[in-house]
Formats: sequence, structure tokens, C-alpha cells
Amino acid sequence: MNKTTEGRQLYLRRLEITDLERTWVWLHRREIYTKIGVKVPFSREEQLIWFEKLQQDPVKIVFAVCRLKDDAHIGNVSLDQIDSRHHNARMSIFIGDESLQGQGCGSEAVQLLLEYAFSTLQLHKVWCKTDAGFPAVIRFYERLGFRQEGVLREHEFKEGAFVDKVLLARINNP
Ligand SMILES: CC(C)(COP(=O)(O)OP(=O)(O)OC[C@H]1O[C@@H](n2cnc3c(N)ncnc32)[C@H](O)[C@@H]1OP(=O)(O)O)[C@@H](O)C(=O)NCCC(=O)NCCS
Repeated sequence: MNKTTEGRQLYLRRLEITDLERTWVWLHRREIYTKIGVKVPFSREEQLIWFEKLQQDPVKIVFAVCRLKDDAHIGNVSLDQIDSRHHNARMSIFIGDESLQGQGCGSEAVQLLLEYAFSTLQLHKVWCKTDAGFPAVIRFYERLGFRQEGVLREHEFKEGAFVDKVLLARINNP
């Protein structure tokens, strides 16, 4: 097991081909795809092509979030649009197993991702967008030191309606 960063109860490792089936199932759950913004449905073949491209992609990294106690893979976190000139990247997260949500796993996984982004990649800023209509997700990020930077009005078309997106970011302030 190639652990990239390790915390109190979780660690991150690069997503592997054997994680794809689990990931496919999680991403097709309404509670996840509506929040993450992934376009569903997609086929297993499309996912495999995505995974093969990911191996060559210098500006995108996907990690499996795993439990230290039993190596269970419980969700994914990613950095993409990694901009080495401006030292920033976008992040995304989901905890796939619903029964594990609300127990601190998401918070620890984001902290591990930020540690990797700020220390290993030497980034200065990590940002993300979420729907204005998801206050629990906004609170989640704010508790992790993210600040709201603005609202992109009617920025996305989701399920028949234009939705506002809130831009959130965490700056590395040592
Ligand atoms: C958002 C998410 C990553 C948080 O991970 P988590 O392990 O549930 O979060 P933690 O236990 O570390 O923190 C709990 C806080 O997260 C927030 N939260 C957001 N969505 C939540 C959910 N579905 N269940 C529980 N808490 C959630 C709440 O603010 C909660 O605080 P509260 O106790 O005051 O309500 C996780 O719920 C998830 O994967 N949701 C679906 C995908 C998603 O929303 N990703 C972010 C999109 S930008």
C-alpha cells in the first residue's frame, strides 16, 4: 500500500484500477453526483478511458481515502487544474459510504489533501465551488479554513434550472 499522506484515522493513496468499480457505484448515487457535479450515467468503458488518461495527466491527481485500521476505501479526494505557475488548484471530495458521513472523515481527508497540496506540491491556494443551495457543504469547507470568495450567478444548469455557485478557497498561511 503506497500511502501518500497519513492522518489520525485515514490515509490517502493514489486511486488504483481496482478502486474503479466502487467509485462507479458511489458516483451514480444521487446524493453524490448532484453534489460533485459529475455527469452521469457513464459506462465502465468510459471510466477506464478516464482512468488511463488520468495516469498521464500532469494537472490532476485523484486519491483514494482509506481507513488506517482496515485499509477500507471510503471515498475519493482530488486536485485538478493544478496551476504550477500561479500555485493553485481546484479540489473535490466525496465520502462514498453514507453510513460514514458526519463522523469527521471528510474533514480529515481534506486536511490530508491540503497538507499534500501545500507541502508536497508547494501550492499557495486550493479552491472549489459548490451550489449556493448546499449550506451544509459550505459550512463544512468554512470549518476547514476555506473562505467564500464570491458567487457565480446562475453559473450551472442542473436538472432544469440555473444555479448559483459559491466559490470557496483556502490560502496557505504558514
Ligand atoms: C461533504 C462531505 C465530504 C463531508 O464529509 P463528512 O465526513 O460527512 O464530514 P465531517 O464528518 O468531517 O463533517 C461534518 C460536517 O460536514 C457537513 N456535511 C455536508 N454534507 C454532509 C452530509 N451529507 N452528512 C453529514 N455532514 C455533512 C456538515 O456541515 C457537517 O457539520 P454538522 O455536523 O454541523 O452538520 C460528505 O458529506 C460527502 O461526501 N457528501 C457528498 C459529496 C459532497 O457534498 N462533496 C462536496 C461537494 S463540493
